[in-house]
Amino acid sequence: MKIIVTGGAGFIGSALVRHLIDETTHTVLNLDKLTYAASLASLACVSHNPRYSFVHGSICDSALLERVVATFDPDGFINLAAETHVDRSIDGPVAFIDTNINGTFRLLQAAQAHVERLPTDRRARFRFLHVSTDEVYGSLGETGKFHEATPYDPRSPYSASKAASDHLVSAWGHTYGLPILITNCSNNYGPYQFPEKLIPLCIIKALAGEELPIYGRGENIRDWLYVDDHVRALTTVFERGIPCQTYNIGGDAERRNIDVVRRICAVLDTLRPRDGGKHYADLISFVADRPGHDARYAIDASKIRAELGWSPEQSFDAGIEATVKWYLENEDWWEDILAQNYKGERLGLKRAHG
Ligand code: NAD
Ligand code: DAU
Repeated sequence: MKIIVTGGAGFIGSALVRHLIDETTHTVLNLDKLTYAASLASLACVSHNPRYSFVHGSICDSALLERVVATFDPDGFINLAAETHVDRSIDGPVAFIDTNINGTFRLLQAAQAHVERLPTDRRARFRFLHVSTDEVYGSLGETGKFHEATPYDPRSPYSASKAASDHLVSAWGHTYGLPILITNCSNNYGPYQFPEKLIPLCIIKALAGEELPIYGRGENIRDWLYVDDHVRALTTVFERGIPCQTYNIGGDAERRNIDVVRRICAVLDTLRPRDGGKHYADLISFVADRPGHDARYAIDASKIRAELGWSPEQSFDAGIEATVKWYLENEDWWEDILAQNYKGERLGLKRAHG
């Protein structure tokens, strides 16, 4: 199939594009605005493949979308283009509203217009997969998990914008018959993740001998999934999911933030011991909490396991070790980012003004 992947220069998008090119026969057009979070270096290994092409542009640009769709004539979309960092959404929500809500709306319009022009057989196969997050469900107490029927209760500007986009996508399926699919996934980690997120931030700060900032007491819980497991799930849902259905994706790997960071420190102690017998965990520092910090996320992924036969392959400990090794072996990739886009400063404590 010919697939437009949006946000394909980001962390999950680039892993998906590499997977689609290396492991399937699909043809991919990557449409990406190249925000601070994008990296074309993450796609170097596929950039010359004849089944891969790239267009620099925004999902908010309807005229561009119309041109790209008319030329590429896709059999489906996988929408990952988004502003994704909760802390940045606290400091400045505007880009989140523009891209996550308005951009998704523009993309739906372009997809719907295209589907209506397709012959019946291609229309029957067409899919619009919207990639979303477990954060739309809000925050859990000590027990329970999010499942597909959990009511939406977003708490941050980021999760509210993603919830809005999910509702728009559902509405296009329900009202116009667009063959949509939605996935809601838990926290991803792995190679090529932008170092504003907890895991790469702590690896890079530890290597620099800087303090490792843990918000609050580090007791908030996330459910971690290795990014390659996520992109296998997305491919499965795109190829075999039932239109108008939602699929939750998660790693069954709940961890407190403090335990995640201690694990990273333990792996680094083995792979790159500090001078003088010091331990990386000595760098852990408890800092002011994130405003509105969600306590716990956990995904019940039994539907995608039972109906589509997907399950995660990477254990948390093996995934963290692979991730730490990758950052140790790919300093050029993240040093470029530190030099150009982000130096590891604390985000998310400003008031929202724009
Ligand atoms: P990311 O921040 O690493 O990358 C986002 C990409 O989208 C970047 O390449 C950026 O340039 C592009 N982009 C932003 N605005 C755009 C626009 N207007 N038009 C076109 N491209 C644009 O994000 P990620 O972590 O890879 O997340 C990808 C998707 O998966 C997002 O929709 C996110 O909400 C969702 N998600 C992420 C996680 C996670 O843990 N990272 C978990 C669940 C769901
Ligand atoms: O749950 C899925 C979501 O996971 C995705 O939708 C988001 O796009 C993605 O960014 C991620 O959101 P989180 O806010 O959970 O991820 P982050 O890496 O920013 O933070 C993970 C946890 O670690 C969270 O409880 C906040 C905490 N944290 C984060 C940073 C950056 C710290 O304690 N210190 C930090 O420096």
